[in-house]
This record gives sequence, structure tokens and C-alpha cells, in this order.
Amino acid sequence: MKSKLMRSTNWTPDSWRDFDQRQQPAYPNTKLLSEVLDTLHSLPPIVNYREIEDFKQRLAKVEEGRTFIIQAGDCAESFIDANIDSVFSRCQLLSRVAENYEKLIDNEIITIGRIAGQYSKPRSNEFETIEGIQMPSYRGDLINDSSLCRSNRIYNPIRLLQGYKAARDSHNYIRDFHKNYNSTIRSFQKIWTSHEGLHLEYERSHFAKSNENNAWYNLSSHLQWIGARTLFKDSAHVELFSGIHNPIAVKVGPSISAKDLISVLKKLNPRNEKGKLILITRFGKESVLDHLPLLVKTVNSESLNVIWMCDPMHGNTFLNENKTKTRSVCAITDEIEQTILILRKHNKHLGGIHLETTPDEVSECCSIYSEGNEINKSNRYITKCDPRLNADQFFDVMEKVALYRQEHGKQIKSIA
Ligand code: PEP
Ligand code: CO
Repeated sequence: MKSKLMRSTNWTPDSWRDFDQRQQPAYPNTKLLSEVLDTLHSLPPIVNYREIEDFKQRLAKVEEGRTFIIQAGDCAESFIDANIDSVFSRCQLLSRVAENYEKLIDNEIITIGRIAGQYSKPRSNEFETIEGIQMPSYRGDLINDSSLCRSNRIYNPIRLLQGYKAARDSHNYIRDFHKNYNSTIRSFQKIWTSHEGLHLEYERSHFAKSNENNAWYNLSSHLQWIGARTLFKDSAHVELFSGIHNPIAVKVGPSISAKDLISVLKKLNPRNEKGKLILITRFGKESVLDHLPLLVKTVNSESLNVIWMCDPMHGNTFLNENKTKTRSVCAITDEIEQTILILRKHNKHLGGIHLETTPDEVSECCSIYSEGNEINKSNRYITKCDPRLNADQFFDVMEKVALYRQEHGKQIKSIA
């Protein structure tokens, strides 16, 4: 049978319903789900078309090497953090790191938060066992509650409305942050918002057609990415996002072949526009060399316009002796350096970095490989999902990025 990707489909905001839908919660109360979706469809947009077009034009400069992207924030945001203090402190960290990086390197920066909507998580297993109790896996605040109680883990559609409110409030606090911060910092950069576009119905409910150009946009945030687990041939996520004018990012790991990836990229960017498509590679320091060179060669041979970014977090997670998930800063910087070198070898450049970070004083990632065993859950380990870099580690990683880009060919001003 011919693959759906190979056929020319007539996209509509609902054509994804005929494709393979992975990582979607099976709600026990479908009547409530449809009532909630009706309400969501009627609510005002969170961002607007013009902001998205402005963002896309700025991204186009990354492909020319004039701008560098720093995208960072929580693995999983909590609804409870949709308050002014938490949003301000996360924005402040992003701004400070961006400012520091801008001082080091001759580039403009585009700062993107994993913020104001990063509420749903793909999971490898339907169930997880915590403290000896088996329960449905936590799939992000948009879907269920993370507390260790079976009944709170039931998928509840009301959470979609709570998610909308948390995302809208967080966007408002970010706008306030821009007003406050703008007056104090000369080289202030706007913070754009992004999240994984995982929950198909939730994302679809934010789709709207602009009266200006008659094009469809997803107004849930400025940028959504398709995660590694939902990026495959015949994916409903690829179908849904192939019809919108927003820029779109894809997380690329070892599970997708170069051939399938090319079909997906062509489907997502049929006009080969610049600033439209971001490839975030996340192979891990052990396998980046096995996969990335072929990928870059294939994308080059098809002359596709893409922004190359590196997520050095998700391929470098391991369980330490306490069975706690952690990541080492050394592995993270190692993958970044290898990625820079491979891209350069194939006449491409690194356009940005994608990290999981927090302003909280956590120790979730270890600083060097061997320290992993020292991290345990009583020792400032509070993430709801994956281990994040704390502020010092975030600054260190970005200084390394600047250093590697200098060593491997990019001009930087100075490193303190
Ligand atoms: C994530 O970014 O939190 C994530 C789950 O990433 P990936 O899809 O790359 O595994
Ligand atoms: Co994560």
C-alpha cells in the first residue's frame, strides 16, 4: 500500500484524524472531553499571527548564520508555576544567559522558552511503578496529576481548560516581564514561547485562519515541536502541523531513518521556506557520530532549508546507582562539540541549542561523568520529569558552546 505521506493529501485542520495517533490519552469520560473541546474552540487565542510571522522572519536569519537560538526551560512545567514569580525567574535566567552569551559571541540571539504551555509529556510506558505502587504514567499536567495517587493519575479532560488558563496567564506574565526588563537591559531580547505539540485535540483547538493572508496558524504558542516518539511516517502529528504557517521544530533521534525523515521534512515545508523548519538532533554523545553525518549529507543532497539545533539532554540520560535519572554536563558538552564538528565538516553550522533548565537550585544533573551516583532524590531533585541543568550549569554549558564555536571556526569576542 502506498504510504499516506507519498500521496498528496488535502490538508484540513482535521485530516490528521485519519493518520496514526500516538501518545494520546484514552479519556474515560468522552462526553466531558467533547464539551471541554467545544469550550476550548471558543476561547480567545494565546498568541497572534503577526507575532508568529515576525518570529519566522527572525528565524530565517539563523540559516544565514547571523543569529543563534537558545531554547531552554523545564522538561515538564507545572500549572502551579503559572504565577508571576516563577515566570519572572525563569525569564530572568533565560535573559541573563542570553546576555552573557551575546557578550561572548558575535551573534544576535533568539531566546525561546520551553515555557507557557510545556504541559504534556510523551511516555515510553503506559504504567510506572513508584515506591512499589503501579499507576498510570504521569503524562504532564495537561493530562493527569503527578502525585503518587492512582485516582489523581486518571486522565481528566478538565485539565485541558486549566492548561489553557495556565498558558494564557504565563504569556501575560512574560509580556509584563518584557515591559519591566526592557527598560533596564540595553540588549534585551524578547522571549518567544514553545512547547511540544503533543496533545492533538488541544493543539487543534488553537488553530485559526488569519484574515490577512487566509493561512492557518496554531495560536497556542509561537513554536511547537514534534517529539521524537511522534515523528514517523504516517504520523498524525506531522499531518496536523503540515498545514500551518508557524515555524515548526522536529526532534530527531536514532529511531527515524534518513529516508523517512526527508519525506517528513518535505511534507512540513513543501515550499522549502527559510526560517520554517528546525531540526533538533538528540542522539546522545555515544551515537551522534553514527547518525548525524548521514542525516546532514541527506538533507544537503536534497537542498532542504533547515536550521540545525542540538538537544544534548535527551540522548544522554542514565540511571545512577540509586535508580535516579540523571545527566552529566560532560556528556552534554561532548555531544554539542561533536555536533558542531560534524555540521562544519558538511558545510553547515549549528543554529542553536535546546536545553532543559531551571532557575531553582537543584542538583538533578551531575557536573562530571563520575558524580552521577551522588545525586539522589532527597538532594534537591524536584523535577516532574527529566533532570534539568541549574543556573550555574546552564551558564557553563553555554560558555562551552561559545568556546567550541570559536575553536571550530566562529568568531567570539572574549571569554571571561
Ligand atoms: C522533551 O523534549 O522533553 C522530550 C521528551 O524530548 P524527545 O522527544 O526528544 O525525547
Ligand atoms: Co525532557
